[in-house]
Amino acid sequence: MNTEAICPNATLYERLGKRPGIEAIATDIFNNHMKNPLINTRYANSDPANVIRLVTEMCCAGFGGPETYSGKDMISAHKGMNINAVEFVAVCDDVLAALDMHNVGKREKDEILCILYSLKNEVVHL
Ligand code: HEM
Repeated sequence: MNTEAICPNATLYERLGKRPGIEAIATDIFNNHMKNPLINTRYANSDPANVIRLVTEMCCAGFGGPETYSGKDMISAHKGMNINAVEFVAVCDDVLAALDMHNVGKREKDEILCILYSLKNEVVHL
C-alpha cells in the first residue's frame, strides 16, 4: 500500500498499512525465504507462524507502531549461525520482492533497505 500521496508525514508503519499490512508483507517474506535455495535450509526447523509474528512485531515497533517487540535482539538471534554476506543479500532480495508483491512505493522500499543494511553487522559472521 502506498499512501504517501495522501499522507506524506505518516509513519512508515502507517504507510505500510499498520499491523495488517506489515503482517501480510512478513508472511510473504517468509514464503519467499522458503522458495529461496540460498537460505531456505536455515529455516528448516522454524515454526513459520512464530517467525512471522516476531518479524511483524519488530517491524511494527521499529516503523512507528504501538507494538512491543517480544523477540531477541538481532545479535542474540543470529549468534552462532555464521551467516554470510550472500545470505544477507538473499534476505534483502526476498524482502524487496515481498514489498513489490504489495505494491509498496519506492520511498518506503528505500527506507526499509536502509534499515536492513544498518543491521548487517548485527547479523553477518556472528
Ligand atoms: C537485517 C536482516 C535481518 C533481520 C531484520 C532479521 C530478523 C530476525 C528476527 C526478528 C528473528 C526472530 C528472533 C527471535 O527468535 O526472537 C530472526 C530469526 C532468525 N533469522 Fe533473521 N533477520 C535478518 C537476517 C537474517 C539472515 C541473513 C538470515 C540467514 C538466512 C537469518 C536467519 C534467521 C534464522 C534461521 C532465525 C531463527 C528462526 C527461528 O527461530 O525459527 N536472518 N531474524
